[in-house]
Amino acid sequence: MGKINKIPTFASLKNQKGLLMNTYNTIAETQSFVHQCRQNNLKIGFVPTMGALHQGHLSLIEKAKAENDIVIASIFVNPIQFNNKEDLQKYPRTLEKDAAMLQSIGCDAIFAPSETEMYPEPDTTVFDFGMLDKVMEGKFRPGHFNGVAVVVKRLFEIVKPDNAYFGEKDYQQLQIIKAMVAQKNLAVNIIPYPIVREADGLAMSSRNMRLTEEERTIAPFIHKTLSEAKEKAKQLSPSELTTWVLNQIQIQAIMKTEYFEIVDASTLLAITNWNDSEHAIGCIAIFLGNVRLIDNILLK
Ligand code: PAJ
Repeated sequence: MGKINKIPTFASLKNQKGLLMNTYNTIAETQSFVHQCRQNNLKIGFVPTMGALHQGHLSLIEKAKAENDIVIASIFVNPIQFNNKEDLQKYPRTLEKDAAMLQSIGCDAIFAPSETEMYPEPDTTVFDFGMLDKVMEGKFRPGHFNGVAVVVKRLFEIVKPDNAYFGEKDYQQLQIIKAMVAQKNLAVNIIPYPIVREADGLAMSSRNMRLTEEERTIAPFIHKTLSEAKEKAKQLSPSELTTWVLNQIQIQAIMKTEYFEIVDASTLLAITNWNDSEHAIGCIAIFLGNVRLIDNILLK
């Protein structure tokens, strides 16, 4: 458990050479750290995660470091956002390795609560996101985004960040968080970060480590197809392009498309005509064997 000085200085709050990153498991300790940062007028950047960290997460931390005085990451596998029990059980938990990675890139503090610390009692809040959580991920993972919104709101209340960082890899989640912050008038800036990919194009994901060797070889086909789709968007209508993508993915016998949709980048509603949207994005969810992967690409 990290201890902080009674009279904090900027140096004692920051993870600098020779100083250990502060690791907190309780809300009270985290709030006390946050309070001391606030008293020192330090700008707080926050990166919520579920751990099993990879370069995608670390890029968010690095951006947060560049734009804030103090960076706090949370690591919490949030049970209420899993609509599939097996997925929750199989979610990789690598806290020690994660903490070492965060420490090495200069993250200042981690909040890693237990389930009972986060939810001493069940949280029954129900958000209304209109259509935002009814389409795509929301359609196939009922309750998922409500669980995400509940935990992120709680985390924001504890960490009180000036800026919070979210990856565009989970594009729909990003829109949900923005909507939640607007609905609840929370004083936090939501800052998006582009998808970080492996050298072969596969979007980095904690789930990638569950792929078999064969599946891992085939997985880059998802991004390859979406990149080709971006080119084809110049000639094909949204519905023709959707058909093309679905047919392409079928070439890979072990890939099963759950959905591919071309949607307006803000409303997430499907578009039938490119002129209907200023920006359109293609979002895909695929089963590769038992592993469910998502990806997206800006088409217009
Ligand atoms: P998790 O999947 O751990 O992701 C944490 C953050 O990292 C999210 O904002 C996600 O979009 C971002 N991220 C993951 N892979 C990325 C990649 N390849 N490139 C860029 N960013 C990437 O998303 C969650 O956790 C949870 O739903 C959470 C918001 C923490 C709430 O429980």
